[in-house]
Amino acid sequence: MRGDWTDLPEELRIEIEAKTGPINSIDPAPTGNHADIASTLHSPAGLTFVKAARKLADRDGPEVMSLRREAAVNPYVLALAPRLRFQVEVGEWVALGFEHITGRRADFTPGSPDLAVLAKTIQSIQCTPCPDVVRMVVERRWQSVAEDVSAMAGSALLHTDLNEDNLIITPDGRAYVVDWAFVSRGQAWVELGLLVPWLLKAGHSPREADEWASQFGSWTDAEPSHIDLFSKVFAERWRTHSETNSVAWVAEHAMLTKQWASYRLRGSK
Ligand SMILES: Nc1ncnc2c1ncn2[C@@H]1O[C@H](COP(=O)(O)OP(=O)(O)O)[C@@H](O)[C@H]1O
Ligand SMILES: [Mg+2]
Repeated sequence: MRGDWTDLPEELRIEIEAKTGPINSIDPAPTGNHADIASTLHSPAGLTFVKAARKLADRDGPEVMSLRREAAVNPYVLALAPRLRFQVEVGEWVALGFEHITGRRADFTPGSPDLAVLAKTIQSIQCTPCPDVVRMVVERRWQSVAEDVSAMAGSALLHTDLNEDNLIITPDGRAYVVDWAFVSRGQAWVELGLLVPWLLKAGHSPREADEWASQFGSWTDAEPSHIDLFSKVFAERWRTHSETNSVAWVAEHAMLTKQWASYRLRGSK
């Protein structure tokens, strides 16, 4: 749930202004939905992108944990991500201040030139060693719906949420990956599997999405049965999720992951 800059406690705003200088104006981010606050701050020092989240009564809670994961991985992914300039923690609040990137969201529709940029970005993620600070193991996500999730376990760095809003393309064609909240370790091909519903949403057929993924060695070297299993548990996890969460995009993700699983598992019954 997104709030307003003025919802932040004054002590936190003072700490942030101590880093940015006096803030003249604020533009809330148009997209994304995890952090409690995500805004561009205008100050004499220039633009800063701030994400802030509030702890729960007795612990960090999921939003603050996401910010901590983003902060921890940032120094290792500077070739891909905006630089973290500061982190402030006041009372129940944690805020991160990033270098602001002026650009547009990526476009994954079939034929878009951004798909080549996305491919290059994924190659670059897959060439980046996974630092020890990345503790989340990706296969845990499907433990509740599969007996054996070891096919997805591995040691590659995974962003895990490469949607169009999380890839910013600047006017000079540079791509920045934002929102490292769910950075994880696992098999490199899992990144591509997680991308599939976003490709389908942008208009690719399941076959086209699979063919697109086949440009990566991590995909073609993977056991096809492992990808089949992934497609099945991925869809199953979203199906169970959609039963308890009636938000439209959750239902859509359940539908898209099911569509891909049906394609992968066609003929195997
Ligand atoms: N450093 C940045 N500079 C400019 N815009 C950004 C930056 N980081 C994120 N954004 C924009 O803000 C949106 C929300 O930020 P994001 O990190 O994705 O938060 P959430 O976890 O809420 O999805 C992104 O989709 C992107 O449009
Ligand atoms: Mg986001």
